[in-house]
Amino acid sequence: MTSGSTPPVATKGRILSGIQPTGNLHLGNYLGAIRNWVALQNDFECLFCIVDLHAITVWQEPAALTHATREVAAGMIAAGIDPVANALFVQSHVPAHAQLAWVFNCVARLGWLNRMTQFKDKAGKDREKASAGLYVYPNLMAADILVYKATHVPVGEDQKQHLELARDIAQKFNSDYGVEVFPQPEPVIRGPGMRVMSLRDGSKKMSKSDPSDFSRINMTDDADAIAGKVRKATTDPHPLPDSVAGLEGRAEAANLLNIYAALTDQTLEQVVTEQAGQQFSGFKAKLTDTAVAVLGPINAEMKRLMNDPAEIDKVLARGAAKANAIAEPVLAEVYRTVGFLSR
Ligand code: AMP
Ligand code: TRP
Repeated sequence: MTSGSTPPVATKGRILSGIQPTGNLHLGNYLGAIRNWVALQNDFECLFCIVDLHAITVWQEPAALTHATREVAAGMIAAGIDPVANALFVQSHVPAHAQLAWVFNCVARLGWLNRMTQFKDKAGKDREKASAGLYVYPNLMAADILVYKATHVPVGEDQKQHLELARDIAQKFNSDYGVEVFPQPEPVIRGPGMRVMSLRDGSKKMSKSDPSDFSRINMTDDADAIAGKVRKATTDPHPLPDSVAGLEGRAEAANLLNIYAALTDQTLEQVVTEQAGQQFSGFKAKLTDTAVAVLGPINAEMKRLMNDPAEIDKVLARGAAKANAIAEPVLAEVYRTVGFLSR
């Protein structure tokens, strides 16, 4: 093998990250997650997992789940995730996730799970009707990470508590069995300003589940759709301010400027200075051009990939083979440690 074809060496450690295949990949997913993963793949050995087991903790229409699983894979590849250098795979294709999660169900304490705020949010008022899977979801997430002995996990604010739980599980497993099987996975915190808000309501996160499609820019939106959504985005009657402090109480203006800053790789301060005194109409035209320039090629590549589902499936099968090769020996080590009779 020549040095040119040697795969890049992971210099800092191993990353595992997960994304749910629940449809409508949007600009928030791109700027808040996927784009960071693209940047991290140069420095880390990366495993990117499309977490279908997590998705069914709430009801998913089967055909929609299948479609969304391929769409997320296509979106990630189109956005620049290199599925050859890294492992891009589907969670249910690697049985060790569910197998290790069972062991973790027996390590994690009810008291720990009872503190999880996401369960409380997602279960809502009628907690009795939530699935048991939703309750033990954080144990499965810990298994996703620890089955690869991942050292680093890129997380958003909302997932920090789950990562803490994964660290607690790793530690309790090690101390209960007197071993050093699992490392303590570290969070990789994203750069500032990466919370993309709804285009309709600047106080709400841009979200897959918002009933209004005008609230988000989807990664599958073409230029016309993007232009229409930016044009209709909620604003206020004032021109753009000349300082970041002037954005106080102007959530929609702040959101559009933040998006523009992220898309052009500038700070909010730089963008505010550049756009000071502009009317929204002029600024929106600029934002549209920029969003189309960034998302257009991704969108086109996503469409091309989605037209060839067999190719996506092949890429995912390769990713699963790589992931299984790492996960199976770790699961075997855990089973031995626990005292399961070897087969
Ligand atoms: P979700 O769409 O909630 O499954 O999230 C997938 C990934 O995208 C997670 O890492 C989230 O933190 C990130 N993400 C989702 N929505 C946003 C948003 N509006 N702004 C920034 N990041 C987001
Ligand atoms: N729970 C994460 C979310 O909802 C997705 C996820 C599952 C994940 N397993 C993971 C993220 C492991 C990081 C690491 O966004």
